[in-house]
Order: sequence, then structure tokens, then C-alpha cells
Amino acid sequence: MAKPASIFACTACGQQTPKWHGRCPGCEEWNTITEEARPAARAGRSPSAGRALKPVPLGQVEAPAVRRLSTGIGELDRVLGGGIVPGSIVLIGGSPGIGKSTLTSAALGNLAAAGRDVLYISGEESAAQVRLRAERLEGGALSVPIAVETELGPVLATLEAERPEVCVVDSVQVLYDPALSGSPGSVGQVREVAGRLMRVAKAQGTAVILVGHVTKEGSLAGPRVLEHLVDCVLSFEGERERTYRTLRALKNRFGSTNETGVFEMREQGLVEVQDASARFVSEATRAPGSVVLCSMEGSRPLLVEVQALVAPTELVPPRRVANGVDRNRLALVLAVLARHAGLALGASDVFVSVAGGVRVDEPGADLAMALALASAAKGAELSGEDRPLAAFGELGLTGELRDVAHAERRLAEAAKFGLERVIHPGGKSDRVREALRAGLGGRLREAA
Ligand SMILES: Nc1ncnc2c1ncn2[C@@H]1O[C@H](COP(=O)(O)OP(=O)(O)OP(=O)(O)O)[C@@H](O)[C@H]1O
Ligand SMILES: [Mg+2]
Repeated sequence: MAKPASIFACTACGQQTPKWHGRCPGCEEWNTITEEARPAARAGRSPSAGRALKPVPLGQVEAPAVRRLSTGIGELDRVLGGGIVPGSIVLIGGSPGIGKSTLTSAALGNLAAAGRDVLYISGEESAAQVRLRAERLEGGALSVPIAVETELGPVLATLEAERPEVCVVDSVQVLYDPALSGSPGSVGQVREVAGRLMRVAKAQGTAVILVGHVTKEGSLAGPRVLEHLVDCVLSFEGERERTYRTLRALKNRFGSTNETGVFEMREQGLVEVQDASARFVSEATRAPGSVVLCSMEGSRPLLVEVQALVAPTELVPPRRVANGVDRNRLALVLAVLARHAGLALGASDVFVSVAGGVRVDEPGADLAMALALASAAKGAELSGEDRPLAAFGELGLTGELRDVAHAERRLAEAAKFGLERVIHPGGKSDRVREALRAGLGGRLREAA
């Protein structure tokens, strides 16, 4: 019997099945199975099939010192672990309009200005559109050579002919190989495109930056195999309406994944925000419900303002809205406040948000949330002398304050911006009730 011309593959895990399923038998995701062209069978036995390999001790492997290329964008270099490694493949994902093309254009512009051979391959926008963007950017953006193409073959041929040191492919989802019948962006296509680009890049030492789309849920579109294939996965996040954007490494074979870069979208492109703390502190209000959190973004301390609003409600259950903090941590903080600080907010709507569109994903934000909530519930401002009050620390389930990493660096950052009063674990208070009393002065007793 002739083999059917197509197979079905999961866009999430790459699992292949002979027929369509509503739910992937591999990863059990719903609606991820799509039809793909069956790849042509390779005839014959590979000539190297039976050849035994000769293992070499690692110490004898020649490893030339890698000379990383600086993109001229400090925040991007830091997230990459100190610059781009020649021959590596970097995937940058982010939601539409977040600034992926702007960031990669600016990086290539700087590399070109530093005398590097670069190439920009655009499949999404015309050369004229890319030029318009480059005009906004400072540096050598206008000297970057561009090729507009969506077919894989010519792109690979161009890479081999030009042999650039760094090449941007915007985006990996629009490139396709006509030998496969799946549409551009489908599992088979993305896997093939990335795999072949990788082979060419590694062979000639070209660093390739792939721009990728993200799905509605925020994960990178395309098969998971793409993330396994590349050396580095960066995620560009932020809300489109806000100007702040953060760049994080989700995977990095050449550096830490703790680093975060902060950018601001301006008229002249993405501007690095080196002193993000200064900006957030100067914007901090001293109204009830506001406190400054000394958080850590990777290895760097960052001061952000945490705000809370507590309003009476008839709704059952009441609203719990968390922006920039984890909803489950908010639920935990509310429970600890009710049980261990006598502050029950069961009849109120509660909103907590981190100002500036920043996301804080660490337990160290608990105490700041608790203080902001208590202050909002009492309508009393937190006393930090004439500057805003700062705080950090984790809340334990029994109402104790728990230590978090890098306490000295957080305190040093607060001191640098003149925040004299910081409530933290290991300070004068070691229970949440004492911490709230210290923050609110005598006003907690009425609530308790
Ligand atoms: N003159 C300008 N001043 C400030 N910001 C601008 C200006 N022009 C464009 N922008 C910003 O740049 C963003 C577009 O950036 P860019 O094209 O790099 O995003 P992208 O992530 O590549 O998007 P896509 O997913 O569509 O490719 C817009 O959302 C807008 O916020
Ligand atoms: Mg783009």
C-alpha cells in the first residue's frame, strides 16, 4: 500500500501521528496537531554508517578562546553573557510590536559601525520598511546590508556567498522550504529552516540571530525542538502600551540565565535603561498603598514601586487582581495578613500592581505587598521619614519573615537612592505583624 502523502505533527512537542487527533498523544495539549508533508525518504545507506568513532579526552580537544562580538548594546551583551559568540544561534522571541526588529537592527548597526560584516534578512518587511526603521536609529543602522527573501534556499546561498560574521533572520516563521508542503511557520518548516541555518552557521562561524513570534499564551511559537536546537533563547517582554521592555535569557549555553536587560522604547529606538531604579524611585508616590520594593533582576538590584488598592465590595468572591506579581503569591500574602496580622480583607476587592509595567517574580516581593496592602486598607501612608519606605523579604506561612538572597545588595541599592528606612528580614522585626507596625506606626492596632 502506498504511504499517505502527509503525516500529522504536534506544534508543541513535535510528536508525529498517522492521523489527526484533537489532543496530542505525546504532550496531551489540545488542538496542536497539524498536517505536514511527509518528508521524502532518504534512499541508500549512509557511507559512514559502519565507521567507528575515535573518542578524544576533553583535555586534548582544541578549543580556541572565543572572542565574543559586542553588539554595542550593553544590556543585550549582558543578557547574552558578554556578547555574541561566533557561530552560535540565538532565538529572540516576543509578542508583536514589542521591538524585536528594532533591537536586532540596532545591534547590527553597531556591529557594522565597528567594522564587522553583518547581514539582515527580512522576510516580513520590505527593504523600504526596514530602511524607515533604520532612519530612526542612531549608529550605523543605515550601512547594514539587507536582503528580502522568504525562501530558504536563496537565504542559505546568500549566507554562504557573503559569509557575514553576524546575520539576523527576521523572522524564522516566514522562511520556508518549497520541498516541504507544510505552510511557513508549521512544525516541519520551522524545524527544517532552523536546522539548515544552523548547519551553515556552525560550518562557517556565522552567528545567527533568529527572530521568533510568540503564541497568544506567551510561549515561543513553533515546536519545542526549536528551543533545543538553538544555543540561546531570549525573551523580549513588556506591555505594548508601556514604554519599558525587559529582555531575559530563558536558555543560554554560554552564560547565565539570570540576567535581565531593561529598555525603553523612544523616538530614536530602544534606549537602554541603565539606572532603572533611579527612574522608578523618582516616580514613586508617597500615597497610602505605595511602597518601594528592593527586588533583584538577575544579578542586579532593582527598586520598583509596588502599589495596592483595597476597596469594599459586594462581590462574592471578591476580586484579586495582580499586575506584575504572581497571583498565587498575592493569595498567600492575603492569607498570612488575615491569619497573622489580624488584617482580613475578605470583604474587599484587592488590586496589587508593580508600577512601570515591570514583572517581579520572586518571593522577596511578599513583604512589600503586605505593607502596601496594609497601608491601602488603613488609608495611611507608610512612614519612611521624608522619603518613600522600602522593603523586601519573603513571608512564611507561620507569619515569620524569611531571608532572601542578596540582602546586602538590595540594602546598598536602597541606600544609593537615599531610601533610609528599609524593612527587611534580619532587621528589627522578624514577624509580619511587627513589620507592619514598624511601617505603619501606631495605625495597625485599629485594624487588628
Ligand atoms: N517613531 C517612533 N517613536 C517611538 N516608538 C516607535 C516609533 N516607531 C515605532 N515605534 C515603536 O516600535 C514598535 C515596533 O517595533 P518593531 O517593529 O521592532 O517590533 P517587532 O517586535 O519587530 O514587531 P513585529 O512582531 O511586528 O515584527 C512599535 O510598537 C512602536 O511602539
Ligand atoms: Mg519585526
